[in-house]
Amino acid sequence: MSLGNEVEPFRAAVHEAVDRLVGHWRALADERLPVTRPGRAPGATVAALPALPPEQGEPLDRILQDTWDTVVPGLVHWQHPAFLAYYPTGNSPASVLAELVTAGLGVQGMMWTTGPAATELEQVVTDWLAQALGLPGHFLHTSGNGGGVIQDSASSAVLVAVVAALHRASRGRWRDLGTEGRYRLYRTDQANSCVAKAARVAGLGESTVVPTLPGTARMDPRALRERLAADRAAGGVPAIVVATVGTTGTCAVDPLADIGRICREEGVWLHVDAAYAGPAALCPEFRWLNDGVGAADSYAVNAHKWMRTGTPCNVMWTSDRRSLTEAMSVSPPYLRNEASDTGAVVDYRDWQIPLGRPMRALKLWYVMRAHGLQGLREAIRHDVRMAALLAELVAAEAGFHLVTHRLGLVVFRLDTDPRTREVARSLAGDPALLLSSSTVDGRPVLRAALGSPLLTEATVHRVWRTIRRHAAPGGPTASEVEVDDDRRVV
Ligand SMILES: Cc1ncc(COP(=O)(O)O)c(C=O)c1O
Repeated sequence: MSLGNEVEPFRAAVHEAVDRLVGHWRALADERLPVTRPGRAPGATVAALPALPPEQGEPLDRILQDTWDTVVPGLVHWQHPAFLAYYPTGNSPASVLAELVTAGLGVQGMMWTTGPAATELEQVVTDWLAQALGLPGHFLHTSGNGGGVIQDSASSAVLVAVVAALHRASRGRWRDLGTEGRYRLYRTDQANSCVAKAARVAGLGESTVVPTLPGTARMDPRALRERLAADRAAGGVPAIVVATVGTTGTCAVDPLADIGRICREEGVWLHVDAAYAGPAALCPEFRWLNDGVGAADSYAVNAHKWMRTGTPCNVMWTSDRRSLTEAMSVSPPYLRNEASDTGAVVDYRDWQIPLGRPMRALKLWYVMRAHGLQGLREAIRHDVRMAALLAELVAAEAGFHLVTHRLGLVVFRLDTDPRTREVARSLAGDPALLLSSSTVDGRPVLRAALGSPLLTEATVHRVWRTIRRHAAPGGPTASEVEVDDDRRVV
């Protein structure tokens, strides 16, 4: 970096980028932008870009301009108040500021020696968050045996948990012998797809699907016990159960206390995937979500879903950091150092799959400080209230059926399955809102996940009017929302 040539244009470009972002957020808040552009042909962005990189460097302001001209119009705006398709991706000015500072400091904190303060800040903020969520003390770094780590995703957290569980179940032998197809992972069919993927990637093969309690989408503890016994009888070794607090499909909560008891008795690792619903436990009224978490060996939430934090920011805790780090540690001479040899420091390279890592803690630190726990709780309560309002509107409308409603998720259908599919198709063509469709008990449903930081009561009413219009006999009338061209919004 040449300070003379690069810094002043950078300073100006950062000011311009911030102005553009604030303009973009305002346009989203006022719903002057579409959530998405349905019908956009694949390849449009490729066609708009040169096939080769420039030979000569270009000014930052031109690159910014091209971002808004070429890239932004081709995005789905996850921060739009009417983005309801998937669990939210958090965002806030504090989070964006932290990303900028993190990038500027450019630290690679793979070990304590390569970033002492980066490592220790991560230990402190993960301990902060564990306490704020009411998690058991054995998940804290200060406990000596446990601790938290910031991963990039819930998928990485579950994969790391699987490897640690495999290590413990095989007493380290998996490293020499492989998995021999013996070690088993247990989940329900409601677990996020990343759980089945983790089992495959870790070499466990297909996981054992435990049935759910009738009509609940929650793991049936008795069925779990039966599956564990059956696998043992067939020569398998149960290694890990993955329970979910807030499933992706219907926000169901597995019975952790019963599952935890079985895992303890059977000596099986319990990982709890609380990617979406976990942050709700910041609010005392939602602490029940984690009832029974004391028996878990690891637990993970996505701060980047429901905690005003930009992606990526998954926070994972374990009460058995020895199994985790023994499983993950590979120490060639070039990574050895005195501090690591003392065993007195945390080397986060041994808590994750990649070797290198950015300073991950700054973002969570900024967000927790800028909002305070009170601010984060208020944001969650607001979304829960908005979802309750939508659920009420759905439940009161003839021809609509509320399938399930928990926290910020509202799942509903129409009178008949063909009608649900028809309305889903019609809504998919409307740029002013984005829902997702799925199935529950084999029947098609519409799924609205409320959680944009820009969501207001007015949006909920507008979204509901739009849904009703699409469901009206004869199909939708003209859209209520006049959207601008993204390029003009700066
Ligand atoms: C319950 C649950 N687990 C895991 C994931 C995957 O999260 P990530 O994209 O961070 O891997 C999701 C995504 O929505 C989820 O809802």
